[in-house]
Amino acid sequence: MRQKTIGVMGAMPEEVNGIIQLLTDSEEVRLGMRTYYTGQLNGVPIVVVFSRWGKVAAATTVSTLILHFNVSEIIFTGVAGAIDSGLNAGDIVIGKRLIQHDLDGRPLMKQFEIPLLGVQYLEAPPEALERAVKAVHTLLDGNHLFSAVGEKELRTFGIVKPKVVAGDIASGDQFFASSKAKEELLQKLPGVLCVEMEGAAVAQVCYEYGISFTVLRTVSDTADEQSHIDFPAFIEKISNKYSIEIVKNILQCL
Ligand code: ADE
Repeated sequence: MRQKTIGVMGAMPEEVNGIIQLLTDSEEVRLGMRTYYTGQLNGVPIVVVFSRWGKVAAATTVSTLILHFNVSEIIFTGVAGAIDSGLNAGDIVIGKRLIQHDLDGRPLMKQFEIPLLGVQYLEAPPEALERAVKAVHTLLDGNHLFSAVGEKELRTFGIVKPKVVAGDIASGDQFFASSKAKEELLQKLPGVLCVEMEGAAVAQVCYEYGISFTVLRTVSDTADEQSHIDFPAFIEKISNKYSIEIVKNILQCL
């Protein structure tokens, strides 16, 4: 039987470049201003792409992965701003429920409700979630991440004992860079762990096409006044190596 192909997406070049370099039998396909890299990673057929930022960019990219490349599931790896005060840089959040925090069709429907789907949250398929939690635990429990990323590099970002948490991720076309915006979000959505700009869009497209998805986010910043400094630094020095290790570990659990 032909092996299934996995779509791997990241919203920043740094989040996917390291994975692209590890591909064997790699080929490039240019479509709609994106470059899709097909190939194999540890024997698993994958298509890797830098989606660009925001919900529209992510939605169009994931549609291409499904319709053109016929992927059977999506793994989205990237960074996020922490909303929950218990999260620190380097912690990994796995999306259990994905919500579009900027979707508001009131008074026609409830705040955050996705028109015609009639739901406010999209839930990750339980098997994909369970697999991702297991894969990230394996990564964090050993000393593997420290040797892959570099102990000194991790300590520069205050990363000592990163943890994994599964829960609510909020996505929207907004970079959070103030405590006020963060407070307002927490009042609207008290359970949210972190914010980013693509995950819920990916979840919606996958749901509509009936394919599995996993959204994994490494905390790069605290979504406040410091985030415009922490975010680019984390992207430059750390996220590349995190993404490689996360994706490799998940593929091992297939
Ligand atoms: N991704 C990483 N950090 C973020 C932030 N502060 N706001 C939105 N998306 C992010």
